Amino acid sequence: MCVATNSADVEGDAMSRRGRFITVEGGEGAGKSTCIDSIRRHLEVAGRRVVVTREPGGTPLAEEIRGLLLGQHDGGMANDTELLLVFAARADHIARVIRPALERGDWVLSDRFTDATYAYQGGGRGLGDERIALLENFVQGDLRPDLTLLLDLPVTIGLARAAGREAAPDRFEREAAAFFERVRAAYRERAAREPERFRIIDASQPLDQVMARIGEVLDAYDG
Ligand SMILES: Nc1ncnc2c1ncn2[C@@H]1O[C@H](COP(=O)(O)OP(=O)(O)OP(=O)(O)O)[C@@H](O)[C@H]1O
Ligand SMILES: [Mg+2]
Repeated sequence: MCVATNSADVEGDAMSRRGRFITVEGGEGAGKSTCIDSIRRHLEVAGRRVVVTREPGGTPLAEEIRGLLLGQHDGGMANDTELLLVFAARADHIARVIRPALERGDWVLSDRFTDATYAYQGGGRGLGDERIALLENFVQGDLRPDLTLLLDLPVTIGLARAAGREAAPDRFEREAAAFFERVRAAYRERAAREPERFRIIDASQPLDQVMARIGEVLDAYDG
């Protein structure tokens, strides 16, 4: 007897084998890089295989592009060049790291992704969301994060934390406070528009409280 295969079941199987794509977003000094290792451990304790990565970057080529984006250039950098470099790096990152990991069932945890492009290039630089959306569709196809943790905090607190780090300020960290206010507003607007994907974390709290809240969010996420 021939048993018909329900295509919805096949898609369901493929979806359950695919890993989940979690991104951590927020402005300068929000605590993304500080929290990411604890987030990885939390997911691993829950039985997930986790690939931790970051943007811009995540592959040798994309890390070279990161160097171009964060470094100083005589005469500056045109906004469109910045936007295209971000997506050039992302294309390599997706092809070599993110898609292969998700397809083999690993969870991918990225320190920033395309919401950062909408926040920094869209909000901060004032580029229109439409052109970012065009590039997002072109470069990513249907790839979107499954869950996004937005570490949100007042700009002044984040900048004070970032200033406390050893490294010299990069090309973005040299921007005026108004730039980071636009970045924050753009992030919050995106979170309000997609409440099912975003979780807003109050990142102004002490680190142990921030991590406890993230732990609750991860435990509640049934991905
Ligand atoms: N909740 C917190 N309370 C106090 N200090 C914190 C907290 N979270 C992070 N920090 C400190 O703030 C500084 C910036 O944190 P971190 O580098 O993780 O931020 P980030 O979000 O990765 O910033 P960037 O966008 O610049 O990469 C670090 O020195 C870190 O130790
Ligand atoms: Mg960081």
